[in-house]
Amino acid sequence: MNDKTIKKNITRLWNQAYINYDDCYAHGLKSEGEKKEWLRFLRKVIGKQPCSILDVGAGTGFVSLLLAELGHTCKGIDLSENMLSKAKEKAEKAGFHNVTFAIGDAEDTKEPAKQYDVVINRHLVWTLPHPEKAIKEWKRVLKPGGRLVIMEGNWHYNRLSDRIQVFLGKCLITLVEHRNAFSNDGDYDKDTKEELPMMKSRNARRLGQMVQNAGLKVTVIPMTEVDRAEKQAMPLRYRLLNPHKRITVIGVKE
Ligand SMILES: C[S@@+](CC[C@H](N)C(=O)[O-])C[C@H]1O[C@@H](n2cnc3c(N)ncnc32)[C@H](O)[C@@H]1O
Repeated sequence: MNDKTIKKNITRLWNQAYINYDDCYAHGLKSEGEKKEWLRFLRKVIGKQPCSILDVGAGTGFVSLLLAELGHTCKGIDLSENMLSKAKEKAEKAGFHNVTFAIGDAEDTKEPAKQYDVVINRHLVWTLPHPEKAIKEWKRVLKPGGRLVIMEGNWHYNRLSDRIQVFLGKCLITLVEHRNAFSNDGDYDKDTKEELPMMKSRNARRLGQMVQNAGLKVTVIPMTEVDRAEKQAMPLRYRLLNPHKRITVIGVKE
């Protein structure tokens, strides 16, 4: 599949998914406790000093808006116009003037070199056809001393216990919500999935290695408190459906 078709398929999916993206567990904020943990975590990885930040694959603005609340200046880019329309709506409602959104490709941002203190993303790398190329691009737009912050989950469940747990979660959702939780609606087709190398990998080890190969100094942090706060807000059926553990890979451009 050529690059243009892959990106077209990706954009199409998110242009449909935007409607209830924020309502989904593990996507939107569901409790004050969860928000508190996210803010605490972002303060820890970015620091208190106001920064200029590029949020790549910003979606409905989850990370950008928390960063704006913390006083940073943030630009969010995304392929999906509809996801960004939600982000813009939320920024306007919150009265934030320190956050902007624009259409852009995370693998080729068109941003000037050495522009940002921080390049950040959450739940993006799994859906990139060329993650290594993207990391080089993010390094290019970082100022010397700048930080790349990648927040990802192990979305592909290899362990039998995780698979059983997800299966039970889907059974319960089907029973309780009277909808087919086993349907593949809202997922990429098989051919598109084949083009996304991080869908099948153990993210923490591989991502850290990729960032290191790009010449950045790497630290990997588990997101235990954020995961815990998020799961506390979930009913049992969604806790079963979401056995993921998240990590953050930080790469410093020296
Ligand atoms: C799972 S959502 C994550 C959104 C947001 N970062 C969050 O944490 O809620 C993935 C997002 O990545 C966007 N995306 C996928 N590939 C992209 C690319 N090459 N460049 C920019 N955005 C991309 C999608 O449109 C979608 O909004």
